[in-house]
Amino acid sequence: FLIDKGNHRHFMAKEIHEQPEVVGRTLAHYLDMSAGRVRLPFELPFDPAELTRITITACGTAYYAGLTAKYWLEKFARVPVEIDVASEFRYREAPLPKGGLMIVVSQSGETADTLASLRYAKEQGQHILSVVNVPTSTIARESDVAALTLAGPEIGVASTKAFTCQLAVLACLALAFGRARGVLPEAEEQRLVSNLINVPGLMAEAVKREPHIEQMAGSLAKATDVLYLGRGTSFPLALEGALKLKEISYIHAEGYAAGELKHGPIALIDESMPVIVIAPHDAVYEKTVSNMQEVSARGGRIILVADQRSADDASIAFEAVVAMTPMPSEFAPIVYAVPVQLIAYHTAVFMGKDVDQPRNLAKSVTVE
Ligand code: G6P
Repeated sequence: FLIDKGNHRHFMAKEIHEQPEVVGRTLAHYLDMSAGRVRLPFELPFDPAELTRITITACGTAYYAGLTAKYWLEKFARVPVEIDVASEFRYREAPLPKGGLMIVVSQSGETADTLASLRYAKEQGQHILSVVNVPTSTIARESDVAALTLAGPEIGVASTKAFTCQLAVLACLALAFGRARGVLPEAEEQRLVSNLINVPGLMAEAVKREPHIEQMAGSLAKATDVLYLGRGTSFPLALEGALKLKEISYIHAEGYAAGELKHGPIALIDESMPVIVIAPHDAVYEKTVSNMQEVSARGGRIILVADQRSADDASIAFEAVVAMTPMPSEFAPIVYAVPVQLIAYHTAVFMGKDVDQPRNLAKSVTVE
């Protein structure tokens, strides 16, 4: 890999733009494209059919990839998943099932808390599967299986392409486990795999929304607080969107499950706080619409990231809409990550911030 910015202003921009390619490459590594089936590039040293529970731990953006995987593993593989941030997991003396599986997610493979969680789980007799970007890393070496993300080197401190590649690998694992557990019929696997195969093309379409997102940045840059809402698999992406924005623009941002709005953040809604709603056309979309109506009724400013069908909803006045190409919803987070990253990126660039080297943050946190 040649490490330069190409014709981009920042590594972060380059890495956002690279995603259709690196996610495509990663998917090709885990799928048998012609058969339309999942094909893991390694033997699993355990039988997924025997798992009674999976534990996931990670930090930062990798944690939000893991949180998305919880939804996929529970839905497609019908296995209960417990997930925690590594800094909490490592000290809480969690009881783990005999012969259970721990999945750790880490771009660098060197994050101290994630590594400590891995070692704890190993002592407790868990199988360790890591989703890592650096094949020579400590976490990769100490795992029973290292499932590689083929993102290439990620230089921007705020993770982008590693995140979407982690999602791609985790989606494939969820389908592989579903098949091994006998809960994912072949036709359903093929339908889902063909949806995954379409993801890189949809990400390329999403990148084309950039000029529109750039125009929105000036208005977002004036905010002191931003609320991100999402439901289902859009909830982890709401958390990731808020993290991205605060990391590089220093605007305070919070991600919330849309259904929790009424239990707190609704008190904050006014005409000054933008509310970014991530709402692909999925099974919980109508529920999110009612949350948007609650925001709208209180004079809130809504920026909607959704497919065009949702944007046409006349009962809500949106401040801005990032209209996405309609797609089946299962893997929408991989595609919707692109506008979410671009919103943070352009807001920070508009404010003149150093997006590749944000203050006080490190690319890899190898001390506690
Ligand atoms: C740091 C980085 C984040 C990253 C997190 C976990 O906080 O700034 O971008 O998500 O560490 O890193 P890892 O290498 O374990 O994925």
